[in-house]
Amino acid sequence: MAHSAVVSSEQYNYEIVKKFAIAAIVWGIAGMTTGVYIASELAWPFLNFDIAQITFGRLRPVHTSGVIFGFGGNALFATSYYIVQRTCQVRLAGGTFWPNFTFWGWNLALIVAGIGYTFGISQGREYAEPEWYVDIAIAVVWVVYFLIYTVTLVRRNQPHIYVANWFFMSFILATALLHIFNNLTMPVSLLGAKSYSLFSGVQDAMTQWWYGHNAVGFFLTAAFLGMMYYFVPKQAGRPVYSYRLSIVHFWALSFMYMWVGTHHLHWTAIPDWTSSLAAVFSILLLMPSWGGMINGIMTLSGAWDKLRTDPIMMFLITSLSFYGMSTFEGPMMSLKSVNALSHYTDWTVGHVHSGALGWVAMVSIGSFYHMIPRIWNTTIYSTKLIYTHFFLATIGVILYITALWVSGIGQGLMLRAFDEYGNLAYTFVETVVFMHGPLVARAIGGMFFLSGMFVMAYNVYMTIARAKQEEKTPVIAAAQA
Ligand code: HEM
Ligand code: HEM
Repeated sequence: MAHSAVVSSEQYNYEIVKKFAIAAIVWGIAGMTTGVYIASELAWPFLNFDIAQITFGRLRPVHTSGVIFGFGGNALFATSYYIVQRTCQVRLAGGTFWPNFTFWGWNLALIVAGIGYTFGISQGREYAEPEWYVDIAIAVVWVVYFLIYTVTLVRRNQPHIYVANWFFMSFILATALLHIFNNLTMPVSLLGAKSYSLFSGVQDAMTQWWYGHNAVGFFLTAAFLGMMYYFVPKQAGRPVYSYRLSIVHFWALSFMYMWVGTHHLHWTAIPDWTSSLAAVFSILLLMPSWGGMINGIMTLSGAWDKLRTDPIMMFLITSLSFYGMSTFEGPMMSLKSVNALSHYTDWTVGHVHSGALGWVAMVSIGSFYHMIPRIWNTTIYSTKLIYTHFFLATIGVILYITALWVSGIGQGLMLRAFDEYGNLAYTFVETVVFMHGPLVARAIGGMFFLSGMFVMAYNVYMTIARAKQEEKTPVIAAAQA
């Protein structure tokens, strides 16, 4: 390992962290506004207005890409660049050019993809909708990201590679693998925005869901665990509860996620044994997932009072509770008998958002409230507004997922009910009528969550404004401190 001189915090590359952090908040608001809009379209279909570009089918991938890759992706770039510098005590590799290249490359690729969706340009592969030219751009950005990260690790001034970096590295490597294989396509014209997958039939479906579930496993889980393993101990002011458990957590999680993709394809034309194998590994996944959750929550032992007094801690610990809840629900839904009820219903969408809003968004928000004042070298503008955000977000998630349990389980039970003559007891349209109430409640839940994001944007804006003011008048700032 090469040892360069230890750097002080002024020498870290925080400019790039700032850019990604702001982009994450902007994408969060844009992606969730689209989420609220499509949720409203499902509750009140007239909102489609017969305009092709804004119909549910076109806007849905705008939402999923916006929140997963725009909000989540930018949050991961920001926090991983911050964490790798802090834990390795070295400046980020790549000078200013290459980190900026990842910033502009990533965000432009997402914008081009998003505009394309509204015009119907899509591969039709879930969470991998962009066409080949965007896929190539993303692959290039990703290789640069990998190089920046590994070179920074190699140049570290610490003998040890802290566990958060392990999670980020597995996320970067796995995402590269998944992205490349799932997007192996044949463009049908160089200028035309159309291509065909190299796989077909069952192989195509299995490749897609190998990708799909590992996008959940490595993008939406492993990387956010990296965030958790840094920010929870930092905010608690205590070391991680069990370092040994974090290593077991890492290896078990990385190994097991790779096998579970076909639980998305139960009861279809795939070979039955692949379905069973996926179910077995999904059940096993409960152990590392809960091990990680317990490790995060127990880091607070001895400082439980922070749960009453520190709204950032409230975000972080609540996110871990939702992580635990969704990783209990997921294995249960992977059982073939349960999946026969849940698949094709809103229960799945509810499960998704208990992970996406409860875990992914909340852990990011908590981490941002910790990180943002530090990178701007100031304190947060308003702690009261963090409390407000916390309650808006929590009410929003709970409304969202309980509404979809009612909608999804009700829908599933109605679709499989028979009368005494063996005929279906309900028509399809009766299930739609039943779901209307819960779908309205879900849209309201989304509005709560989204309004919390606006509160955050205001709080962050004021924090940055104050930091700039303090920079101009350091004497006044010092006196105020
Ligand atoms: C204000 C917050 C949000 C609202 C109102 C919302 C709403 C929606 C709606 C209406 C759908 C379409 C469901 C369907 O096809 O029936 C959806 C899908 C989805 N959303 Fe969200 N969403 C929000 C936030 C998020 C966030 C933060 C993430 C990820 C970090 C996320 C990830 C997803 C995913 C992965 C799907 C596809 C689900 C599936 O196919 O089962 N959403 N969302
Ligand atoms: C041990 C952990 C987990 C297991 C075993 C698991 C299992 C499952 C199962 C069985 C489904 C339903 C598949 C179907 O019927 O189509 C599903 C859907 C999904 N889960 Fe999980 N889940 C886990 C954790 C999570 C977490 C933490 C998140 C989010 C951060 C998440 C995001 C999703 C998404 C996005 C889908 C919907 C995919 C789609 O159809 O578009 N899961 N999961």
